[in-house]
Amino acid sequence: MQTRVLTGITTTGTPHLGNYVGAIRPAIAASHDAGVDAFYFMADYHALIKSDQPARIERSRLEIAATWLACGLDPARVTFYRQSDIPEIPELTWLLTCVTSKGLLNRAHAYKAAVDRNVAEGEDSDAGITAGLYMYPVLMAADILAFNANKVPVGRDQIQHIEMARDIAQRFNHLYGGTFFTLPEALIEEQVATLPGLDGRKMSKSYDNTIPLFEGGPKRLRETIMRIVTDSRAPGEAKSLDDSALFTLYQAFASRAETQVFGKALEDGMGWGEAKEILFERIEDDVAPMRERYDQLIARPGDIEDILVEGALKARSIAAPLVAQLRDAVGLRRMNTVAAPASKATAAKSDKMPRFASFREDDGAFRFRLFGAEGDELLLSRKFADPKQAGALRQRLQSLGGGQAQLDAEGLAYRLVVDGEPVAVSPAYADDTSRDAAMQALRAALDTLAAA
Ligand code: TRP
Repeated sequence: MQTRVLTGITTTGTPHLGNYVGAIRPAIAASHDAGVDAFYFMADYHALIKSDQPARIERSRLEIAATWLACGLDPARVTFYRQSDIPEIPELTWLLTCVTSKGLLNRAHAYKAAVDRNVAEGEDSDAGITAGLYMYPVLMAADILAFNANKVPVGRDQIQHIEMARDIAQRFNHLYGGTFFTLPEALIEEQVATLPGLDGRKMSKSYDNTIPLFEGGPKRLRETIMRIVTDSRAPGEAKSLDDSALFTLYQAFASRAETQVFGKALEDGMGWGEAKEILFERIEDDVAPMRERYDQLIARPGDIEDILVEGALKARSIAAPLVAQLRDAVGLRRMNTVAAPASKATAAKSDKMPRFASFREDDGAFRFRLFGAEGDELLLSRKFADPKQAGALRQRLQSLGGGQAQLDAEGLAYRLVVDGEPVAVSPAYADDTSRDAAMQALRAALDTLAAA
């Protein structure tokens, strides 16, 4: 079993070294693990909460996509997509919104911080706070739950959001009586150091202390590194490594052996100027080949678009059947599939139960169809000369259960295989997504029959 690992990157701003070391590099390394099924996406709906500038949103999406690809993300291994290409995410957001208590959202750190700021400034407590900011955790829960992710690598500031996603998932599962959602867990990489910025505080756009990853080329990288704050010890004086941002930055890129040599040289009195030069060279060694790919990619945005559209298709083939199942669970069903209610009691029953319909072909053979709770045709059995055999198979299917059933996709249809033998086929569907949704519906129908 693979672990599904999912994480989102909010598309505001341009990636810096801190993003690379703290998020991009470890995520790409994890995607090479055979036990990991990685889903990485650009959280561009989340970006709209932070920015109302279309040009910046557009630019940031392009830069971030190009950066991840240039840093080695392989779109054949990883499902790499844009949140805004997945209509199931906003749809799921609404289904989750309706089971999320307002009180839970009142407690979200980001919202509370905004309220506290307002209160401190003597403003109305909700001044300038959009409903988007308030709903942020629900959208994020939908991002995660739409794919039933097991692990979500995030920074510490996001742990509360993962906990909320679990709460919301549990509440939905409980209310609608099913295991619709896997409960996600936050994955905090303890080894991955948060990179210090120019002033020694955590590298972050909000502190304006970042070192760009690709932007501005080697010249800009070198100039920025020269601005790293150091203490005033002169060349020849021993340097302390303990709270040296420069040393920590070097360590984030160099091997253990290289780091030892570098540290020793500093302790032996290497000047900060020379150390910065060495640091620049070391980072540039890693960054230069990636920057070259980045420049090529960013010059061909159409190619990036193709990769993302492909990724969205892959992602939707998972989210769409799940959301179809959820629509069904909450009662958003097609009307033509509900038998006209004779009385309330029978309506409630026929509303829920899958059913078999047996018939005889012109050639005299016996067959049956299985219809789902919604009246949708799910299966057509093979032909039987003896009606008892057809009956035996119907009984078998009644007790099989959805988890047990072997379903093999075959083009736009699927087959049901029992004891190694194909015994029934589905109708052909319009596309893979509807076929996968029907497979889910069949499993649900078999579960219902087995439980009846
Ligand atoms: N909120 C996350 C951040 O700011 C980005 C994000 C959006 C995300 N949706 C997600 C992360 C889903 C993990 C899973 O870092």
